[in-house]
Amino acid sequence: MGNGHHPAADLVRRHLLLGGSIAAGAVIASSALAQQNTDTAPQELNGHPVPEPPPERSAGPIRPGRGSSLTGKVAVVTGAARGIGRAIAVEFAANGADVVALDIAGPVSPASNAAPADPAELAETVRQVRAYGRRGDAVQADIRDIEALRKVADQVERDHGQIDIVVANAAIQRWKPLMEMEDADWRDVIDNNLNGTANTIRAFAPKMIPHKKGRIIVLSSMQGKHGTKNAASYSASKWGILGLMKSAAMELGEYDITVNALIPGLVDTPLTRYEARYRNSMAETGQTPPEHPTPQQAWDTRAPTVPLKVGWLQPDDISPAAVFLASDAAAMVTGAEYEVTGGDSAKDI
Ligand SMILES: NC(=O)c1ccc[n+]([C@@H]2O[C@H](COP(=O)([O-])OP(=O)(O)OC[C@H]3O[C@@H](n4cnc5c(N)ncnc54)[C@H](O)[C@@H]3O)[C@@H](O)[C@H]2O)c1
Repeated sequence: MGNGHHPAADLVRRHLLLGGSIAAGAVIASSALAQQNTDTAPQELNGHPVPEPPPERSAGPIRPGRGSSLTGKVAVVTGAARGIGRAIAVEFAANGADVVALDIAGPVSPASNAAPADPAELAETVRQVRAYGRRGDAVQADIRDIEALRKVADQVERDHGQIDIVVANAAIQRWKPLMEMEDADWRDVIDNNLNGTANTIRAFAPKMIPHKKGRIIVLSSMQGKHGTKNAASYSASKWGILGLMKSAAMELGEYDITVNALIPGLVDTPLTRYEARYRNSMAETGQTPPEHPTPQQAWDTRAPTVPLKVGWLQPDDISPAAVFLASDAAAMVTGAEYEVTGGDSAKDI
């Protein structure tokens, strides 16, 4: 995960800071650059040098594609059998990464509103990864089982020699009024989403620490930034994930490992494509939903309330942000929340 720094590149930065102009094409040709920049002096103030960060503590210098290239990197994505996890896995591969797609690919808990994913879906993710010419591996594992995750981490390290990127994406959702929740409706959602995300970090970050580099991306939600009527356990789990993310960022920064959260708005996936979810999203706009809303009714009710006028987003609207956060260009982004909501987040935080 090198930043590609070299002396000529440092000169580019100085030149930019000094307000010089460099033709974009010249950025690739280091010898030409060195020639152009022999007159650039180190930064200073009143004769005192201005410190600059070491290469591993900087995203610079500017070079084409640095925010999208994942060439040579190895990524593990949990919950990758479908939905947002699949989009992230495939988008990583499309941008050069080898991907280990991890999913339980089976029932998680009776407290999950969504139908379980299956091994065929996980295999399809891997097929799509490989279609980009990258290595793709399917791993069936449960993020609640930290010992299983540690074994996966050992195996990936043996197979690939490194783990550069981990996306803790797997989660379930429960729609039920708090007063009606059974213990499982509360505990299973917290255990799966919050403890499972912590397990993922605890199992995979130790593989990054010795290399002093890494990218960890967790999935929170707009429901992790405000309360959610009738989904308290999910909302609480997603708030908890933000606290976990920020704490891990503070601990892992010294190893040049970044930890960030993606915050999707409403996205059309099996997690959200059912009548109860449609009713809740319609009720959030202040309207009384019908007993059996159609997808079109749900879209038409929500879309006018979203700045970019969509009823919901698509998984591949979310995955480009994951690529950026995983890229070299995001070297100095950590402890942050990255919202992709069609503008939903503009109105209510
Ligand atoms: N869809 C949305 O509107 C939305 C919005 C905000 C945040 N999110 C978040 O995005 C992430 C992905 O959601 P999605 O909509 O793609 O959901 P999804 O249900 O389509 O996919 C989730 C995947 O996670 C897997 N999974 C769940 N628990 C697991 C476990 N214990 N071990 C291994 N795998 C497990 C499931 O099998 C499934 O394949 C989740 O963290 C979710 O909370 C989704």
